[in-house]
Amino acid sequence: MSLLVKKIQKLKEEKNAVILAHYYVNDEIQEIADYIGDSYYLSKIATEVPQETIVLCGVTFMGESAKLLNPQKTVLIPDAAAHCPMADMAGIDKIDAVKNEHPDVAVVCYINSTAELKAHSDVCVTSANALKIVKALPNKNIYFIPDENLGRFVASQLPGKNFIFNDGFCHVHADISKEDVLNAKELNPNAKILVHPECTPDVVKLGDYVGSTSGIIQYATESSCNEFIICTEIGVLYQLKQKNPHKHFYTANSRQCCSDMKKISLENVYDVLKNNTNIVVLKEDIKNKASFPLKRMLELGE
Ligand code: 13P
Ligand code: SF4
Repeated sequence: MSLLVKKIQKLKEEKNAVILAHYYVNDEIQEIADYIGDSYYLSKIATEVPQETIVLCGVTFMGESAKLLNPQKTVLIPDAAAHCPMADMAGIDKIDAVKNEHPDVAVVCYINSTAELKAHSDVCVTSANALKIVKALPNKNIYFIPDENLGRFVASQLPGKNFIFNDGFCHVHADISKEDVLNAKELNPNAKILVHPECTPDVVKLGDYVGSTSGIIQYATESSCNEFIICTEIGVLYQLKQKNPHKHFYTANSRQCCSDMKKISLENVYDVLKNNTNIVVLKEDIKNKASFPLKRMLELGE
C-alpha cells in the first residue's frame, strides 16, 4: 500500500468518511473505494451508509445526486471540473414547451443531468432501471431527457408509450460505431457483444446483451462464454478482470475513455478529505424540487 493510500485511509477514519466510486474511474480509485457501482447503486448506497461524509468519486451529477438524497450529509467531489457533458444537454424552455403541448407528459430525466434539469422533471432514471420505471408510469406521453440513445432504447421496449426525444448524447458511447463493433467481432468471432444503452441504436442492435455497467459486469461474470467485446467506457475492465481473471475482454475501438471520470486521482481524493474542499452545495431554490424525482426513482426502482 502506497503512503498516499495509507494517508487517505487514515483521514477517512478520522473524518468518518466513506468513499463511493463509479466503475469508470481509474483502477487505483476503485481499489481504495468502500463501494463501487453504477449510477443507480451509488445513489442508493449513498442513502444507506452511516458515515457523515461521502467522497463521491465520479462526475459532478453523482455528487449532486448524493447530496440531494442526503441533505444532512457532507458530500465531497474530488474534482469539481469532472463534469459529464451530457448533463447539460437539455433545456428548460424545451421542457416547458413539451409540457404545454402535452399536458399529461411525464418528463423522465436520466440521472446524467444537472440538478436544475432534475428540478423540472417528474422522475429520474438510470440505465439500470429506466425500462422498469417508465413502464410503471401511468403517463402515455414520455419526454425523455437528456440522452436520446437511452430514450430510444427504452422506447423500443415499450411500444405502448409515445416518446418525445431530446438530442443529448454521451460522446464516448456515441463514438463507438457499428463498423468498430463489426471489425472487433470479425477479429474475435466467438466473443459476445455487450453494449451500454448510451450507444447508438445501430450498435445496440448488435448487442448480445444491452444494459448498464453493472448489468454488463454481471452478464460477463455469469456467462459460460470466455470472450467479450465491451461497448462502454474502459473503466469497467478493472472489475471485469477482477471477477473473471481467465476471460478475455476486447474494446470496439481505442477511444472508449471518459476524460472527466479519469480526472479523479488519489491526489485529489486526499486533498478534499484533508482540506474539506469541493463540498457539494445546491441552490436553495431548486434543492427540494430536484430531490423529488430522485426519491421517486428510488421508490419505483425497488
Ligand atoms: P451506468 O453506470 O448507470 O451504467 O451509467 C453509465 C454512465 O455513463 C455514467 O456516467
Ligand atoms: Fe458522461 Fe459519457 Fe462520461 Fe458517462 S461516460 S460521465 S455519460 S461523458
